[in-house]
Amino acid sequence: MIILVGYATVEGQTRKIAGAVAAAVEAAGDRALLFDIASGAEYAIAHPEAAILCAPVHAARYPAAFASFVRQEASWLNSVPSAFVSVSLLIRSEFEEEREEAMHVPDALISDSGWRPTMMHHAAGALRYTEYDFFKRWIIRRMAELENAPTDVSRDHEFTDWKALSGFVEDFLDMAKG
Ligand SMILES: Cc1cc2nc3c(=O)[nH]c(=O)nc-3n(C[C@H](O)[C@H](O)[C@H](O)COP(=O)(O)O)c2cc1C
Repeated sequence: MIILVGYATVEGQTRKIAGAVAAAVEAAGDRALLFDIASGAEYAIAHPEAAILCAPVHAARYPAAFASFVRQEASWLNSVPSAFVSVSLLIRSEFEEEREEAMHVPDALISDSGWRPTMMHHAAGALRYTEYDFFKRWIIRRMAELENAPTDVSRDHEFTDWKALSGFVEDFLDMAKG
């Protein structure tokens, strides 16, 4: 099967997650087309038969380029098996209402675009303190303090559960191949 693995990223963690999704697809003997949605390049030439799209949550929404891609491609996405991997930090919160908030971030995108992903996975992202500018580092550190997340800004902190992610891809492939 040829599977589009489309992603958007701001700080790189979702690119890494999409790379792991593509590696899991290839490990299962299928072909992954790893595609940076913001590149605006053509992907349809290879005729993908399924899609796994990955996007990060920033300020409670997905990057604009990702939202417009989904809107534009909704009818194609609904015609093939498709999955959405939403990358956020609140999904790893110790507070249930924050995890709930993360679970509901896709709602607006799904109702605006009309895309109905067949399967959905929430992955925890990363705090990349070493790559933020001074202002962003200060804001994110304050947020982390409130949420009992790591505040050591001298290094990055990655929370992605890689095993759960590859398990999700295997389940998706089983479903897609019916
Ligand atoms: C400025 C900023 C705003 C963020 N806002 C949210 C948010 O509203 N909810 C959330 O769960 N995570 C939020 N995050 C955490 C990101 O989802 C997380 O860092 C993710 O790994 C970013 O993915 P990316 O590296 O692909 O951009 C925010 C991160 C930054 C830097």
